[in-house]
Amino acid sequence: MEKKLKLKIFQEIAAVADRLQMETYVIGGYVRDLHLKRPSKDIDVVTIGSGIDLATEVAKNLTPRPRVNIFKNFGTAMLKYKDLEVEFVGARKESYQRSSRKPIVEDGTLEDDQNRRDFTINALALSLNKNNFGTLVDPFGGIEDLSNRIIKTPLDPDITFSDDPLRIMRAIRFATQLDFEIDNETLKAIKRNKDRIKIISDERIIDEINKIMMAPKPSKGFKLLEETGLLAIIFPELQNMKGVQRVNGIGHKDNFYHTLEVLDRIVPNTDNLWLRWSALLHDIAKPATKKYIEGQGWTFHAHNFVGVKMIPKIFRRMKLPLNEKMKYVQKMVQLHMRPIVLSEEIVTDSAVRRLLFEAGDDIDDLMTLCEADITSKNASKVKRYMKNFKVVRQKLKEIEEKDAVRNFQPPVDGELIMKTFNLTPCREVGLIKDAIKEAILDGEIHNDYEEAFAFMMKKAKELGLKN
Ligand code: CTP
Repeated sequence: MEKKLKLKIFQEIAAVADRLQMETYVIGGYVRDLHLKRPSKDIDVVTIGSGIDLATEVAKNLTPRPRVNIFKNFGTAMLKYKDLEVEFVGARKESYQRSSRKPIVEDGTLEDDQNRRDFTINALALSLNKNNFGTLVDPFGGIEDLSNRIIKTPLDPDITFSDDPLRIMRAIRFATQLDFEIDNETLKAIKRNKDRIKIISDERIIDEINKIMMAPKPSKGFKLLEETGLLAIIFPELQNMKGVQRVNGIGHKDNFYHTLEVLDRIVPNTDNLWLRWSALLHDIAKPATKKYIEGQGWTFHAHNFVGVKMIPKIFRRMKLPLNEKMKYVQKMVQLHMRPIVLSEEIVTDSAVRRLLFEAGDDIDDLMTLCEADITSKNASKVKRYMKNFKVVRQKLKEIEEKDAVRNFQPPVDGELIMKTFNLTPCREVGLIKDAIKEAILDGEIHNDYEEAFAFMMKKAKELGLKN
């Protein structure tokens, strides 16, 4: 480990720590990530004594001298140096009360500090003092757990989780991000303590869910959330998707596992968190719209529209943004079946124009979602869909080049209609505007000023308007 602590900042901290005779370590996530060869810019430094004093002295020795942000209440100090964020804290002993995450804090030893941490792999410390620079302090076998890819609490898991129930989510999040397994006793304790998650704020929970969403295989996290009983508490709509109902021996597919497959399938094709959320929510209304119809089988009529309506409630409760990001997810959910319907029919220009108009700049994302949605086990079916999607993509390109409907701006707008017929805003203006848009999308006229103007005149005449 010693040669890995080669960043200049560690030498600077070490020199100051020795001068002040303070026992000092780098601890937690940075040491874990060093071992896993994951890049990390957040460094946590723990010292036996005042973290604030140490940070202040370290800052004085750095050029350019960074500002030290002091959080007196927490006894911590943070400074930024180059692209690093370094947090200093005095080693402490914490005890918790059942009703809150707010601990009673006392000064402590390194061992006390390691005891209060969440997982063995996050409790590793490397010494920064000269006499033992780079020495690893690993009281709980964290290195072994890193090699065996295990998430395990350092103490009795019931105590660790009860002290801070957010760690229940963190265990699942780390297992997903790092593709580790959760130790059996730790997993059992998660199940026993799952209801304690209710004292954790929605904001912290969604942070963890979003980290799971951005992991290489998010399904792992959602399966763990489901198996431990957490999903039913924090995301009942997703929990509801699990299971297969049968009528006359005919079942539908399990929409929970289908959804997770779609989510995993979209991951390599996008870093966009909101497109991943669209994948997670695309079938969210299937349980609510499910119906068995004799002779037809299972139907989920209008599940896309019902899904769009469910989204604001989910986003509000989970403290997700209610702005254009949510609108984007709603648009994806609403349109998610359109390309597939299109690909099954003869692809007409007007159907393509309408899809382009409705999806706008998000058309490529929509196609990515649709391709991920093909999870059939029937290889020839998948092949056929993928081939048809190719045709749809080609057609989308051709029509966009020809008609430019993707960012459709009507060539004749309301202003011009009002000016031409000397009108104030009224129903007729809307009717004419709509008729022009429809005529263009249907291919009756081109997306062109002259043609649209002539069409407006014709439409106005029908409505009895005079210019
Ligand atoms: N920690 C903890 N319990 C928590 C949060 C944090 O014990 N609920 C400890 C762990 O030792 C952790 C360290 O504080 O390694 C730093 O926490 P944080 O920065 O949140 O996490 P990292 O482990 O650095 O990982 P990431 O940046 O991926 O969240």
